[in-house]
Amino acid sequence: MTETETNMTRPVLEARGIVRRFGGITAVDGVDVTVGQGEIVGLIGPNGSGKSTMVNLLTGELAPDKGTIRFAGKDITGVAPYRRARLGIARSFQMLRMFTSMSVEDNMLTATHIHMKRGLLSSLLNLPSARAEEDEVRARARDLLAMFELEQFAGRPVTALSIGQQRMVELARGVLSGPKLFLLDEPAAGLAPPNVDRLIALIKRMRDEFGISILLIEHDMRVVRELCDRVVVLDSGELIAEGHPETVVNDPAVIEAYIGKGWSRRAQA
Ligand SMILES: Nc1ncnc2c1ncn2[C@@H]1O[C@H](COP(=O)(O)OP(=O)(O)OP(=O)(O)O)[C@@H](O)[C@H]1O
Ligand SMILES: [Mg+2]
Repeated sequence: MTETETNMTRPVLEARGIVRRFGGITAVDGVDVTVGQGEIVGLIGPNGSGKSTMVNLLTGELAPDKGTIRFAGKDITGVAPYRRARLGIARSFQMLRMFTSMSVEDNMLTATHIHMKRGLLSSLLNLPSARAEEDEVRARARDLLAMFELEQFAGRPVTALSIGQQRMVELARGVLSGPKLFLLDEPAAGLAPPNVDRLIALIKRMRDEFGISILLIEHDMRVVRELCDRVVVLDSGELIAEGHPETVVNDPAVIEAYIGKGWSRRAQA
């Protein structure tokens, strides 16, 4: 096989046998998750089943007790979060994390500092090379804000926007960082139904136009059904089902897991 063929067939993300305990709780218990190139994989399960913990393990914010994580062909199990970001892993948060004192545009630009070729010194000295790079990044930020229908808010404080709009800024910021893999932790949470439709369309564009592979945690089953090529289901930290969204949501073990835990109100909505 040539190198290109290998890259096409090899998943962008391969997490194997991941275990993470918190005191007496095993939040993630021997889970395998793979995401293929250009794939949108759903990570679902009742509240407290280990979904966000899994994302934190993939970004490096948490270290696993057991297991290995390979990304773009490299073992990244012990690699620091900022280096994983540089390698091309972006994420969004279940609870929004914005730089609340900054404008929408400046929040966007925080994503690109991980990649800036010119160091802080050349920026401080205001060298032409640093200015040219910054101008280019600002132009790309404006283009993405337009794609997310946020361009009129570029100069506004990010806190002046609704939660739904701030979620869109978070997604645009992630795309601006140029990731290979985007980990989305409940992007539809708190969005009104018309905005959920927009979100679905935007996530499709992230994959189709930007080639970003996606791992999507979501309680809104409409989002899962419309977007995901494949779904992985966790229950009490264990992987209990995997497959096509329609098959998985009709799997008795999955229904039992949700009913046993009290089907989340958000999942019913
Ligand atoms: N930092 C932590 N310290 C201790 N326990 C934690 C920590 N993070 C998560 N847990 C526990 O691990 C389990 C899994 O939590 P996690 O947040 O991963 O679930 P989740 O599937 O994302 O749930 P939700 O759908 O409610 O967001 C829960 O029992 C939770 O209380
Ligand atoms: Mg969570």
